[in-house]
Amino acid sequence: MTRETKIDKIVQTIEQIPTLPVISTQILNLFRNENITIRQIQDLIERDPPLAAKILKIVNSSFYGLLNKVSTIEHAIIILGTNEVRSVALGFALQNHFKTHSNHFEPARFWKHSIICSQIAKYLAKYFNVFDDGTYFLAGLIHDLGKLVIDQYFPEEFKAIVAHITENRCSFSKAEKEVLGVTHYQIGAKLLRQWNFPEKVIMQIFYHHAPWHDKNFTTESTILYLANVLTKISGFTCSSEEPPVSGKDIVKPSLFEFMNKTGLDIDQESYKNLLLLIRELIAAETNNVLTIFE
Ligand SMILES: [Fe+2]
Ligand SMILES: [Fe+2]
Repeated sequence: MTRETKIDKIVQTIEQIPTLPVISTQILNLFRNENITIRQIQDLIERDPPLAAKILKIVNSSFYGLLNKVSTIEHAIIILGTNEVRSVALGFALQNHFKTHSNHFEPARFWKHSIICSQIAKYLAKYFNVFDDGTYFLAGLIHDLGKLVIDQYFPEEFKAIVAHITENRCSFSKAEKEVLGVTHYQIGAKLLRQWNFPEKVIMQIFYHHAPWHDKNFTTESTILYLANVLTKISGFTCSSEEPPVSGKDIVKPSLFEFMNKTGLDIDQESYKNLLLLIRELIAAETNNVLTIFE
């Protein structure tokens, strides 16, 4: 099969992936209603105890830094805000949808990578004083969705990608280009576009390995990029085959220069402190957010 035919086949397969699972569509529709009350959201969430438990873990995450524990959904909604709750509900509905299909993945490891990334992305938005409309969580949680699509719809190729990574100690994207001709960020963005996700989230995911190419949502993409890198540096790569990333890998003057140009104020010193802080926050999550997918 030529490279072109292979890519055509991949595109066709993605186009045939059914629309969002029903529950996610329900959540999206419900939240589109501007007059929705906290009571209605609360009812919807309480009807789904596993989701309710996850929301409580998110709101009590050390990344939020609340002094008192939140124990009711009503309180959690007030603290997180409607947008964030929608983002959390939608993210977990997607996670559920793909959960049962993994072929060659270590799902718990993959989702730990994703949830840590979502927490860091949200934290970075706060750290850099960037407005968060609740979508950083979503973008963080599903940024590597394309890998699940490859795993589910192209299991043989996925196996070959993982073997390529092990052999060459290279990144996922590089192995995906070699084996498939397309990458997880292209696949993820394509699927999310089909599913009518917000443009910002699609772009963040498309550019999460190269935000400097994003012309419209540079700040958002850069935050997701940094969150993903910091997640890996903290030891949470999404597969055990991936080579470990060291804190030094990111300390390139060109990156700081780019970030400062984007309006994200950071230098070597503050980066080092940020990394320490994030490690502490993650360490405090062992019994909380990190247990969500076990
Ligand atoms: Fe990625
Ligand atoms: Fe990632």
